[in-house]
Amino acid sequence: MARKLLALVSAVPVVVALNNGLALTPQMGWNTWNHFGCGINQDTIVNSAKALISNGLDKLGYEYVLVDDCWQADARDPDTGAPVEDKSKFPDGIKAVADQVHSLGLKFGIYSSAGTYTCGGKFGSLDYEEIDAKTYASWGVDYLKYDNCNNEGRAGTPQISYERYNNMSQALNATGRPILYSMCNWGEDGPWNFAVNIANSWRISGDIYDNFDRYDDRCPCTSMLDCKLAGFHCAMSRIIDFSAPLGQKAGKGHWNDLDMLEVGNGGMTYDEYVTHFSMWALAKSPLILGNDVTDMSDETKQIITNDAIIAVNKDTNGSPAIRVWKKPVSQGGDIQLWSITLVNYQWVFAVLNTSPVNQTVDISLLDVFIDQGSSFGSGTFTLSDLWQKDSSGNWGASVGNAQGTFTVSVNSHATRVFKAVPASSSSRREFETVDDPHAYYPGGDSRELLL
Ligand SMILES: *[C@@H]1O[C@H](CO)[C@@H](O)[C@H](O)[C@H]1NC(C)=O
Ligand SMILES: *[C@@H]1O[C@H](CO)[C@@H](O)[C@H](O)[C@H]1NC(C)=O
Ligand SMILES: *[C@@H]1O[C@H](CO)[C@@H](O)[C@H](O)[C@H]1NC(C)=O
Repeated sequence: MARKLLALVSAVPVVVALNNGLALTPQMGWNTWNHFGCGINQDTIVNSAKALISNGLDKLGYEYVLVDDCWQADARDPDTGAPVEDKSKFPDGIKAVADQVHSLGLKFGIYSSAGTYTCGGKFGSLDYEEIDAKTYASWGVDYLKYDNCNNEGRAGTPQISYERYNNMSQALNATGRPILYSMCNWGEDGPWNFAVNIANSWRISGDIYDNFDRYDDRCPCTSMLDCKLAGFHCAMSRIIDFSAPLGQKAGKGHWNDLDMLEVGNGGMTYDEYVTHFSMWALAKSPLILGNDVTDMSDETKQIITNDAIIAVNKDTNGSPAIRVWKKPVSQGGDIQLWSITLVNYQWVFAVLNTSPVNQTVDISLLDVFIDQGSSFGSGTFTLSDLWQKDSSGNWGASVGNAQGTFTVSVNSHATRVFKAVPASSSSRREFETVDDPHAYYPGGDSRELLL
């Protein structure tokens, strides 16, 4: 089996990612925009950084503290052209805020647009890439989110978009400071095809909207593959759909960004936020919190601190989950099966129900292991439920062995996420060394499991 897997891996084209050593797993952190919008100042940033620490979020990997739009003064420095912060919001200057964030052991990021103005109407970085990158580096910036508003029409082909975004990539590199480069051109011109070697991540769609599935004409495309207006107000489960064909383009150092998280902002139920957090993790999207981390409900904390789900996102096998199938439900919506391969002979699969009704779904391991082959999928696996706690309070309660087809119940708008490992430690060794694991599980356990 090991040999077979290697053969599969080597058939995938080798991609050279942006060579800044960053985002080997998708970046994690917190950003001002989804909760605070333009209503930010230096206290917002520093208090949120402290809250990441006091809530133990830094220990789980949330390390970047990101200032989004509206930190800028009305104009650049008239003499040098350098970017200047709004002194009424940042009286001590951006550098002092970055220093404080660093002194807490966290990293600091900032925002601009590859246009003449940002989306919030502040000065943008188009044609000012070099001086902006240099200034950010001198402030101690570790991360740049680079938006797409007011781009003066410099888009429309992958090459034109590439040149505009590569310019900043080169400028960041020339500073000599490793700065994570988070492209935000909303999937325009297909960044998954042209940005793999120039950015650590790229947004795949218009902005997320804190709602499960409401269609909104401001997010008009049904797929991002040929979308001419990415827009905004894209409901969460629509972005999951957008991401499904794009997983193949992401990997270590270059990720699909499904947009910042809305968990805790109030527009979705617990089950819907579980779906949001689970699917962002499985798609290997950056996990950037977008709520007020200084004021969180226990429910919000439960979701964003699920370390079993975060471990899937951080797994060093860099391939995002694949959507194995999507089946329509007569009342509307669909059931989806997603599957992802982790290191060390572990797999995770998710069953997502976007329909308005609770469902019980038959899941076949042959589908879960569609890429591993039928001999593999007919083995016996031990399952744990990554949204159930075990008796010691850890996420990932064991729910028994499975073989063949079994039934999973999944509530409306919820997602069940299971980890599967080959059953028993001795058979697990056999999986690692034997070509045809089926030979070792001739009959197996045929009982149906209701999960
Ligand atoms: C700049 O790019 C070169 C060539 O890819 C790479 O070796 C170097 O590490 C990069 N430096 C930074 C600071 O990103
Ligand atoms: C980036 O744009 C600036 C300003 O238009 C230009 O001077 C510079 O040559 C460009 N750099 C790259 C790498 O394209
Ligand atoms: C789904 O089941 C849950 C209990 O598990 C129940 O609270 C909920 O009302 C049900 N939802 C629907 C839409 O039937």
